[in-house]
Amino acid sequence: TVESAVIVAIDGPAGTGKSSTSKAVAAALGLRYLDTGAQYRAITWWMITNGVDTADAAAIATASDKPAIVSGTDPAGPTITVDGEDVSAPIRTPEVSARVSAVSAVPEVRTRITGLQQAIAAAAETGIVVEGRDIGTTVLPDADLKIFLTASAEARAARRAGELKGADVEATRQALVKRDAADSGRATSPLAMAADAVEVDTTELTLQQVVDRVVALVEERRAAA
Ligand code: DC
Repeated sequence: TVESAVIVAIDGPAGTGKSSTSKAVAAALGLRYLDTGAQYRAITWWMITNGVDTADAAAIATASDKPAIVSGTDPAGPTITVDGEDVSAPIRTPEVSARVSAVSAVPEVRTRITGLQQAIAAAAETGIVVEGRDIGTTVLPDADLKIFLTASAEARAARRAGELKGADVEATRQALVKRDAADSGRATSPLAMAADAVEVDTTELTLQQVVDRVVALVEERRAAA
């Protein structure tokens, strides 16, 4: 509950500023931070690296418990390893981005990764900010605060293309829209806004404005508890 450990769920499609917002909110409030997309990217990277066909759901299901995925939750320097290897860079390639939706739609993958997420949240004594797609709906339905970030597809593509220096904005927009459609349309815990989430449209807001808004909401919940 709120006095002991604050749990904040931040969901939304790609390019809405979830990671930047979540890290800054966690740092401002002295909370841990978990990037659940990085976990899905890590398992996808392992499948590709080990020659598992990412279009073969049965093969992915069989292999889903093989890689050991460990997430470091310091908002100032989050880390992710697979079988002890630092994969922070290789999980961000366009190849992983293009295949992660298929891998993360496999129910066995979701069960496994969801279990890791719930264990990490339960171990965070001061509390944690967890960002993803299904945190408020499925992973942490009792979170103290649920935020759903949105932004226009154009704004999201421009931000993402800016991060991947030199990327084409229109190609980035198409890739994002395709990934969102897959993430929203899958059968098992799709990208969705929880009924009790606060929606924040970031299209016209600066990162600092979004962070201030979320920090204020956490403080309101703490004061009301
Ligand atoms: O946040 P991201 O773009 O790095 O996430 C990569 C993919 O991982 C996303 O397209 C879908 C999947 N994902 C998911 O299915 N559930 C989550 N909680 C987080 C990410």
